[in-house]
Amino acid sequence: MNGAIKEVEKRWPPFTIKKLQQNQIKEVIKLHNKHLGKRDFINEEELKKRIKTNRGIFLIAEDNKTHKIIGIKFGYFDGKECTGRGIVVLPKWRRRGVGKVLVEEFEKQLKANQKIKKYVFGSATETGIPFHIYMGYNPVALMQFKDKNLRNKLNLSGFKILKEKYNKDYKIYQIHIKLKKSSQNLNNLKMLIKKFPKINVQYVFSKSTAKL
Ligand SMILES: CC(C)(COP(=O)(O)OP(=O)(O)OC[C@H]1O[C@@H](n2cnc3c(N)ncnc32)[C@H](O)[C@@H]1OP(=O)(O)O)[C@@H](O)C(=O)NCCC(=O)NCCS
Repeated sequence: MNGAIKEVEKRWPPFTIKKLQQNQIKEVIKLHNKHLGKRDFINEEELKKRIKTNRGIFLIAEDNKTHKIIGIKFGYFDGKECTGRGIVVLPKWRRRGVGKVLVEEFEKQLKANQKIKKYVFGSATETGIPFHIYMGYNPVALMQFKDKNLRNKLNLSGFKILKEKYNKDYKIYQIHIKLKKSSQNLNNLKMLIKKFPKINVQYVFSKSTAKL
């Protein structure tokens, strides 16, 4: 099976989930940056190091015909936590179950890892929010801003604050807000982004690996 983890033959066109290889790193960084934007934590050195030391899960989906990479799903292990570091499926392959199979394989590998207890990731994309809700994840809203003084000007009455603190590591103020089931959707996120134009708002999804 040439390194294949899972072969998906019933779907058309078929694809295969594999582990990312060192010689594919440059290609997947390009793919990541094109669809999710450039991020500090996605770079050649970091990916090489983490693959070598098994500090993460790095999956690719490959077109069985052309052997081209059509999707990626990454997560980094730090301590007992795994942080999702992006999922992308090429536009012409979307809505054919590639993302679902990538996440299912990712969850299977997470569950098999005794050291990792929690899986957490953020999203604010048009496709990422409905996709992860479909995959069974429940979001909370995360509001972030660098200028601490903004806090006094923020009116959060009517919102249930789960936790808030100044995160010294990232030098950013963070407020986690509980969302009613009926607000756990993309439209509500868009509404929050519009309502609070001066701060970064995204959804954060997390699960205990025992519940995967
Ligand atoms: C998010 C993404 C990875 C999903 O990949 P995918 O292969 O299209 O997902 P699947 O086909 O497995 O979708 C499974 C289900 O998720 C939901 N879903 C996926 N994309 C959706 C969308 N754009 N709108 C609404 N629901 C969506 C649907 O319920 C879908 O099932 P259905 O097609 O039978 O209705 C893909 O859209 C993508 O690469 N987006 C751009 C990058 C991005 O924003 N990544 C998320 C970062 S957190």
